[in-house]
Amino acid sequence: MYDDNPTLQGLNKEIDESKQGEVFFQEQLSKPTGNKHFYIESYGCAMNFSDSEIVGSILSEVGYAPTQKMEESDLILINTCSIREKAEHNVRQRLSVFNKVKKERPGTLIGVLGCMAERLKEKLMDQEKLVDMVIGPDAYRDIPKLVRNAEDGDKGINVLLSREETYADISPLRLNSNGINAFISIMRGCDNMCSFCVVPFTRGRERSRNAFSIVAEATDLYNNGFREVTLLGQNVDSYKWTNPETQALVNFAQLLELVAKVHPDLRIRFSTSHPKDITDEVLYTIAKHENICNYIHLPVQSGNSRILKLMNRTYDRAWYKERVEAIYRIIPDCAISSDFITGFCTETEEEHQDTLSMLNWAKYTMSYMFFYSERPGTRAAKKYKDDVELSVKKRRLQEVVDAQMAMSYQLNLADIGKTFKVLIEGTSKKSDQDFKGRNSQNKMLIFPKKGNYKPGEYALVKVTSATRATLKGEIVQ
Ligand code: SAH
Ligand code: SF4
Ligand code: F3S
Repeated sequence: MYDDNPTLQGLNKEIDESKQGEVFFQEQLSKPTGNKHFYIESYGCAMNFSDSEIVGSILSEVGYAPTQKMEESDLILINTCSIREKAEHNVRQRLSVFNKVKKERPGTLIGVLGCMAERLKEKLMDQEKLVDMVIGPDAYRDIPKLVRNAEDGDKGINVLLSREETYADISPLRLNSNGINAFISIMRGCDNMCSFCVVPFTRGRERSRNAFSIVAEATDLYNNGFREVTLLGQNVDSYKWTNPETQALVNFAQLLELVAKVHPDLRIRFSTSHPKDITDEVLYTIAKHENICNYIHLPVQSGNSRILKLMNRTYDRAWYKERVEAIYRIIPDCAISSDFITGFCTETEEEHQDTLSMLNWAKYTMSYMFFYSERPGTRAAKKYKDDVELSVKKRRLQEVVDAQMAMSYQLNLADIGKTFKVLIEGTSKKSDQDFKGRNSQNKMLIFPKKGNYKPGEYALVKVTSATRATLKGEIVQ
C-alpha cells in the first residue's frame, strides 16, 4: 500500500478499492466519546496507517474523539510519507487545504506526523507557517503534551527517534475498521540502508516488538470478531525478540506460528518480506498452517545484479531467483507480488530488460511500480548521478506496468474453474447483490450473496470468470 502508486490491483485491504493510485485516505470513525475531536489523514505505507491508530488511541485517552469532518475538528493531523517526491507534494497540497479551514476556525490546531515530519523537522514549521506541531514516528506518546502546549499558543516539535519505542502496550483505536481485517505492527524502523530509500532516516533503527504483546493483540482482535491480521514491518523476516525472562529468542517463523495458533479461523498475512532474509523456516511455517496465507510480497526492485548492487539490496538476480524457486517448491500454490523501481541511476536499456524478464519469470500476481525519485540525504543521492531522463524512467515504468497487467490477467485466467476459500469482507462496491472477499493468495473475488453467509465468514467460491483485477465466481458451499 503506497501513496502514489500507479498500479493495477488493490492496495491494501484497509483501503477502498476505488481509491487506488492517489491515496487520499480519510479515516472513518468510531463513535465519538470526548468533547474535543481530532481528524486524521494518513498517507504512505501500511505502517503509517497502523501508526495513526496508535495516535488515535493516545488521543482518545485524553478526551479526543475521532471525526470525519475536518471543519468540525479541534485538531487536524496528517500522517505523512517521504518515500518519493510526489508523496511529499501530495502532503503539501493537503496542508494548504487544512490551512484554509484554520483561517475559518482560528482555534484549530494542525499537526504533521510521520516520515515527512521526521525528514524536514523544524524546516516544515518554517515552510508551512500554519503548522502548530511537528511530530516524528517515535514521539507519538508526546502528542497530548504538544497539543496542550499548542493550545497555549506554543508551537511544538518532537522528532526524536528511539531505539526502543514499539508502542507495544498501546491498544490501537481501530479507525476505518470493517471489523474483519486489522494491521498489527510487529517491528519499527529499518537497518537495511537500500541506497535509494529514505525510510532508515525517517523511521530510525530496527526494533522488534514484544512477541507476547503481538499475540495478545491478535487474540483480542479475534475475540472482537476480526478474522484477518496483517503483521507489519519494513523487513518482517528480520524480526527477532528476546524474552527478557528466559532469554529465549523468537524469530519471524516462530512469531508466525504463535499468531497462527491464536485460532484456526484467524487468517495471518504479513508484509514486507526481504529477499535476503526470508528463510526456508518461514516458508515451511507458512506451508504448515492453513491459516497463514499463501501470499508473499517479495519486492525485487530490479532484475539486474549490477543495479541491485548499486541499490545496496544485498542480493543478486541469482539469489532472488533461488528464493522464488524455494517459495514455489515449498508452497506450490503461493502467490508472489513485488515492487519495482525503474530508471535507477545509470540503468541501461539492457538492464531494464532484465527487470522485465524477472517479472515474467517470477510470475507476480501484482506489483507496486515506481520510477526512481531521488531522495535528499540517501546514499544514492550522495554517490550516484540521477542520470536517467525522466521520459525514459516513465517509459520503462510503463513497460513494467504493461507487462504486469498482462501477467496478472494471465494468472487470473488460470484460476477459472478453481475453488477457493474466501474470507467475505463485505458488499461489493459495484452491486449490493454481490459480496467481495479475498482468497489466501490475496486475490479479490466478487460473487453473488447466497443463503445466510455474512461478512467475516468463510465461503468456498468457484471462479467462473476473470478480469485483470478481479475474479468472479459463485459460492459452492
Ligand atoms: N521495506 C520495503 C519497502 C518499503 S518502501 C522493502 O524493502 O521492500 C516501498 C517501496 O517504495 C519500495 O519497495 C520501492 O519500490 C519504492 N521506493 C522506495 N524508495 C524509492 C525512491 N527513492 N524512488 C522510487 N521508489 C522508491
Ligand atoms: Fe527502505 Fe530497503 Fe529498508 Fe525497505 S529494506 S525500508 S527499501 S531501506
Ligand atoms: Fe512512506 Fe514512511 Fe512508509 S516514508 S512508505 S510512510 S515508512
